[in-house]
Amino acid sequence: MSLKSRAALAHDAARLHVQGRAPYADDLPEIDGTLHAAVGLSEVAHGRLRGLDLAAVAAAPGVAAVIDAKAVPGDPNIGPVFHDEQVFAADRIEYAGQALFAVAAATQAQARRAALLGKAKVTKLKPVLDVEEALAKKSYVVADELLPVIENGWSEETLRAAPHVLSGRQLCGAQEHFYLEGQVAVAQPQEDGRMLIHSSTQNPSEIQHTLAAVLGRPISAIEVRVRRIGGGFGGKETQGCQTAAIAAILAQRTGRPVKLRLPRAVDFVLTGKRHPFLLDYRVGCDDEGRILAADFMVAADCGFSADLSLSILDRAVYHVDNAYHLPCMRVRGFPCKTNKASNTAFRGFGGPQGTLLVERAIEDVARRLGLDPLDVRRRNLYQGRQQRAHYRQKVRDNILPELVERLERDSRYRKRKEAVAAFNAGSELVKKGIALTPVKFGICFMVTFLNQGGALLNVYRDGTVACNHGGTEMGQGLFIKVAQVVAKTLGLSVDRVSCEATSTAKIPNTSATAASSGTDLNGKAAEDAALRLRERLAGLAAELSGDRAEDIVFRDNRVRAPSRSWSFAELVERAYLARLPLAAAGFYRTPKIGSDPLTRIGRPYLYYAYGAAVSEVAVDVLTGEHRLLQVDILHDVGDSINPAVDIGQIEGGYVQGLGWLTTEEMGWDAEGRMLATGPAVYKIPAAGDVPAKFTVRLWPEANREDTIGRSKAVGEPPLLLAISAWAALADAVASARGDGGMVRLDAPATPERVLTAINASAAEAPVQKVRAKRGRERQMTK
Ligand code: MTE
Ligand code: HPA
Ligand code: MOS
Repeated sequence: MSLKSRAALAHDAARLHVQGRAPYADDLPEIDGTLHAAVGLSEVAHGRLRGLDLAAVAAAPGVAAVIDAKAVPGDPNIGPVFHDEQVFAADRIEYAGQALFAVAAATQAQARRAALLGKAKVTKLKPVLDVEEALAKKSYVVADELLPVIENGWSEETLRAAPHVLSGRQLCGAQEHFYLEGQVAVAQPQEDGRMLIHSSTQNPSEIQHTLAAVLGRPISAIEVRVRRIGGGFGGKETQGCQTAAIAAILAQRTGRPVKLRLPRAVDFVLTGKRHPFLLDYRVGCDDEGRILAADFMVAADCGFSADLSLSILDRAVYHVDNAYHLPCMRVRGFPCKTNKASNTAFRGFGGPQGTLLVERAIEDVARRLGLDPLDVRRRNLYQGRQQRAHYRQKVRDNILPELVERLERDSRYRKRKEAVAAFNAGSELVKKGIALTPVKFGICFMVTFLNQGGALLNVYRDGTVACNHGGTEMGQGLFIKVAQVVAKTLGLSVDRVSCEATSTAKIPNTSATAASSGTDLNGKAAEDAALRLRERLAGLAAELSGDRAEDIVFRDNRVRAPSRSWSFAELVERAYLARLPLAAAGFYRTPKIGSDPLTRIGRPYLYYAYGAAVSEVAVDVLTGEHRLLQVDILHDVGDSINPAVDIGQIEGGYVQGLGWLTTEEMGWDAEGRMLATGPAVYKIPAAGDVPAKFTVRLWPEANREDTIGRSKAVGEPPLLLAISAWAALADAVASARGDGGMVRLDAPATPERVLTAINASAAEAPVQKVRAKRGRERQMTK
């Protein structure tokens, strides 16, 4: 039974999800006496906090406790990497929505009402809200010597001497995670100062050690448990800490369980988003569009503190080559400090933003030279398996030329491109666009030491297996994939294996379930544990049968020796009676990787995940409104452990990327207050935005590296496939303008921005003719 043959299984909790019977943190039965918390927020984006008047909060009905910065019992720092962020603002306010205090009351309504009664005395300062302004001021969230610069064969002269030299600027916006389940934590005091936390987090160990510090307790006195989370998308990699810390401080103070669940509007303003980026490029190219030299600048809007911004900026800097070999290049990165919530991990982790820049440069080159952007892309792709990325890692597993060619053929790109041109020639008001873009995404945590995972398998006397590992289930299908790995290793059907709720008491010092590496790390660790158990059971079987241990086979829920066989459960019972341990721990550390944290040179990634997508769109040239007509994806997940789950991730990743690039617009007013705080104004893609023609195919080859089942990570890379939709919109804009000019289409490409891009052309642009004609028609019908 290969992994492949029994692969496309449903998510282990799919049935419970659709029946509403899969409990999340907020659904846990409440212990008697549970208090509910609410947070008091700053309305000012930048200022000096001169004092808080919380008398009315404390006197409000039902209130049991009120806490602010002074009430934090231990270390108030909750920044995951740098000590630049605290549970509550102490003397300086850094963004509108920052937490100033919290209250616990008998009911949630009482707590939320009481939280509105706090008064802050603040001396206002001018907020910095714009990444450009922060960049000009050289205001960064980390020290200057940590800023990334990578040069590879770089020469300004080569750039200047190129036959064509182009430059451009591209902006991309913030993105709210919009996990269906918001940030939530339940803190339950235990005996002798211990604390149990149910948290909606991708990172139980981070919550555990942060809370230990905040409460002034040893790490072992805190247990964090996560059964499942209702989506994280990176927003719960570090940013669950504040919610959990507030619940835990209040619980320690009152001695009662405390639940804090942020209302959606508070979640919007309190927690960070995807980093907006300001992106600049200069490239020199030849007449065929081959890039001879490239100079990139990527500036991230980090918000007020570092959080994971430096790693995110590193991933952006590592992904400015995307699929292209750039032998003469330079990239510089700037982590800009603004008076906004601290921006954080979001699916892709800076990779999408870096990739967008080189794709924009390619588009400009193609338009300047009058070439099909796909031809320019193909000419610049990594070739063979010996070329190196700018940070010197060899692209050993390169499949880009074959993959792109195959999708070009399967999607009938050239024919459709002609059909789009023919349609556009006969259509004044609606213009279509089409684009194919490739993706190369590096797999591993940016920080080398995070690339480790642990597991603990318990086998019970009926032969069922409980798998504990360090990963969290957020809907991505990690648990079913790890269960499949364990089942395959022990020759069991998957229904004999269950993954247990994640707990820091079972697996210590885990990394976040992030960087798409959940299955890579925890799958390998669980396999390691299963192999240890199998070896032990094989030893027993050999002893009982007199056969050799190498000849024992585990298959179909049975254990077969040449001379006799047992059901797995029978052999397990024999092992129990023989007093053999029926638990095993497993561990995995990703081999071969390592890069210099300052120069960034080395091998940060074990391998790359590849993909490509063709998107076709239609644009209304009068309103800028647009519609996605067709998507064709060819994506590389290696030898898939579970194609059903992987295809779901590819579809979901594409659509989430589509939201980032087209509809999800996050605005701030001049005072730094967020304009959109809910779904009425902030538009994530809905079912109706998914085109009827949406084809996903998997690349048929296994991973060349020895990953779990030779599979590849799938969580984040597909998000970047949506760049094809943005490029298709630019193609439609170019047709609408018809002036052969370059197109700057900032993201999100809302109707307003599409219209602006159409109107950015010279005076003779067709859209203006159309407008004039419509005007005349109107007059004539009056
Ligand atoms: N899929 C679902 N349904 N929900 C999520 O929150 N997070 C994404 C991706 N897919 C997410 C998801 C992100 S940001 C990452 S890093 C990976 O899943 C994490 O899980 P994995 O490493 O197990 O793939
Ligand atoms: N992805 C997600 N989280 C991380 C990473 C990464 O590459 N590096 C450190 N934390
Ligand atoms: Mo994903 S952004 O690495 O949690």
